[in-house]
Amino acid sequence: MVNLTQTFNMKKKLVVFSGAGMSAESGISTFRDSGGLWEKHNIEDVATPKAWKKDANLVSDFYNQRRKQILESFPNEAHIQLVKWEESFETFVITQNIDDLHERAGSRNVLHLHGNIRMAKSSGPNQEKKYYPVNGWELKISDVCDDGYRLRPHVVWFGEDVPAYQQAAEIIASADILLVIGTSLQVYPAAGLIHEASSNCRKIIVDLHVNEFNIPSFFEQYQGSAVEVLPSLNLT
Ligand code: APR
Repeated sequence: MVNLTQTFNMKKKLVVFSGAGMSAESGISTFRDSGGLWEKHNIEDVATPKAWKKDANLVSDFYNQRRKQILESFPNEAHIQLVKWEESFETFVITQNIDDLHERAGSRNVLHLHGNIRMAKSSGPNQEKKYYPVNGWELKISDVCDDGYRLRPHVVWFGEDVPAYQQAAEIIASADILLVIGTSLQVYPAAGLIHEASSNCRKIIVDLHVNEFNIPSFFEQYQGSAVEVLPSLNLT
């Protein structure tokens, strides 16, 4: 009889670290590419705790629009390729994306470093205590947490702690293969995670503009779109 536990333990551990480029071919804008979100909106107006204090309705509306776009989008072939690799690898996805396209593609282990737009949390104390599902695209002004504080999107804003960082660092440290996809690696502390991989971990980066980055030389680099490159990668 096949010992399933033994078989499972023999699989190499593949850790994917994804960014906005992963969902670009699903029609979701990236942040820093030409025409990206941060060209159209000021970070200070919509993605900081100060912005929420100043104009919570504007911030909420910005994320309502993001949620709406995400609900109208679908996982692309690159998301689906990651699910196919689950047959051969023990696979973990650490994503900076707030969309749920990895989950909708079928990825089983997904950690959202910067939150999940389909959820909300309290804008009062103990924000990480409980997450509330948002039904549909709109988080309304009248939506409040159990303690009566207004609900805010479950996203990590600039200047806030990244509660899932330590867990992500531990997962990456135990990887046999680290596959970085579609991120400009400009936002810290998230970008620093690539340095948590061990020296004998195989490290690969796939990005449309990887030639313009300053990537450590121990990374194998593939320039191109996630949908184009991923199916041709030989991950052994
Ligand atoms: N395939 C692969 N890579 C792509 C594709 C594609 N189809 N399209 C764009 N890219 C790449 C770009 O070349 C760029 O390097 O995706 C990257 C997107 O970079 P950013 O817009 O900076 O997004 P990201 O790195 O995920 O941003 C990190 O910043 O604003 C915050 O919290 C937000 O999680 C986000 C964080």
